[in-house]
Amino acid sequence: MPPAENPYNSVRYPGSAFLQTHPDRLAVLGILFGMNPPDVEHCRVLELACGDAANLIPMAFGLPDSEFVGVDLAAKPVAAAQDRVKRAGLKNIRVERMDLLELEPAFGEFDYIIAHGVYAWVPEAVQERILAICSANLSANGLAFISYNTDPAGRIRQILREMMQFHEQRAPESKHRVREGKSALETVLKVADPRSPWRSLIENELKLVFDRDERVVYHDDLGECFSPISFGEFVERASRCRLQYVSDASLGELMEPELSPEAHAALNQLAAGDSVAYQQYLDFAKCRRFRQTLLCHAEIPLRRDGLLERVKRLLVASPMKFSEAKPDGSAEFANIRGAGTITTNNPVVIAALKRLENIWPHAERFEDLANAILPALPETLQRDASDSLVQAVLKLAVSKLSDLRTHHIPAPKGISEHPTASFLARLMAQEGSRVTTMLHTHVEIEDEEGRKFLELLDGTRDRKALADALARDSSNESRESALAQIDSSLLNFYQMGLLVS
Ligand SMILES: C[S@@+](CC[C@H](N)C(=O)[O-])C[C@H]1O[C@@H](n2cnc3c(N)ncnc32)[C@H](O)[C@@H]1O
Repeated sequence: MPPAENPYNSVRYPGSAFLQTHPDRLAVLGILFGMNPPDVEHCRVLELACGDAANLIPMAFGLPDSEFVGVDLAAKPVAAAQDRVKRAGLKNIRVERMDLLELEPAFGEFDYIIAHGVYAWVPEAVQERILAICSANLSANGLAFISYNTDPAGRIRQILREMMQFHEQRAPESKHRVREGKSALETVLKVADPRSPWRSLIENELKLVFDRDERVVYHDDLGECFSPISFGEFVERASRCRLQYVSDASLGELMEPELSPEAHAALNQLAAGDSVAYQQYLDFAKCRRFRQTLLCHAEIPLRRDGLLERVKRLLVASPMKFSEAKPDGSAEFANIRGAGTITTNNPVVIAALKRLENIWPHAERFEDLANAILPALPETLQRDASDSLVQAVLKLAVSKLSDLRTHHIPAPKGISEHPTASFLARLMAQEGSRVTTMLHTHVEIEDEEGRKFLELLDGTRDRKALADALARDSSNESRESALAQIDSSLLNFYQMGLLVS
């Protein structure tokens, strides 16, 4: 019998950039927990099961003096990655077709190792290998990122998988596996008693599963393997490979700011000072389905106290934009990335956010931020202002309202005479609507006009030439309104991190 085709060749898994896997993010967390991680501007990064390298290629583009290697078993996504690397003219990245089971310690040493979206979807031998690689191929102060689906919540998803698998065995030749699975589950749901907790459990899970891209459901929910693991068991397996838990990849998920202080205290009491046990109780309480864990070598001394002192060593940025002064003296800020607003009456926070708004998408050293805003605050606030500022910065970072960074992004300071959009972004815009920014976030440029405008930003045109080029396509727009539109689009692209120096 011929070997079965690799499903990742027949149905392409949609690749994406994951900000939380960027070496700069990993370095920030390493520093916060007392490590001395490698300089991200001169590091070596390995991505395991990188698919079409949609995550790794933008990293290589933004960090030209670092070296990137991606490996994946499926030939087609690897070929697509190699093609994009070639077209982007990148020399600091290579993507290879390779089975993780064959990746040996001699493959080389890396400062950051990423395994996103793979651990739960592979057999146990490959899971073991992933941890072994993170141990044998990680440099002394390096950090590994592994994401995985967690138990006990993973068992709820398992129920859905089993129901779909049962249905599938009865109609094995279907061409529309995902749609048929969904329709079978919907039928079952209609029959279930509307008052039963069983029905609401399945209804909720069904929504979570099918709210995603059909190709993702195809692999994640109809694929052969699905092995969620509890956080405690994961950390135990890591420790057998002489790796230790550093942190969650997101400060928000690590610290759960939405939980009340009483809830935190109750879990702390259960955990009795054990940070791993604390996180495990949190998973139970929150029915957490997914984790993104950072690991480092077991012998590194980590620090879980004094976080605030180490925040002071970092760069700070914030995408918040002042939107309204309230009659009671407080101020409202809106996130230019679109996610929410905050209202604050803390003068330190207001001053910091106004300052950071002016420099976004860039960051500045905590010390420079403090020097810029603290002298202008009323004298009564001066004494504890630095402490209040560092607390505010960490709190904002936990809520994703500020970014902590270790390096400066390669973007211009302001919009130049001849604006240039990143070459990679222009390349991506030719192929679809999803474009990765220099901040390692992605934006959807849905309309044809937006993509055309992005492509025109190749550094050869000033505003006038841009207006001329656009005017050829739209006959009825006045010159003034075209120029105003250009200014607004340029500002938008600049703030999204699409322009380069
Ligand atoms: C769910 S996709 C995730 C892709 C990408 N990391 C992401 O998060 O978007 C899983 C990937 O693991 C790869 N994979 C599975 N088993 C593998 C193995 N033994 N060696 C290398 N890659 C493997 C598949 O080819 C596929 O590209």
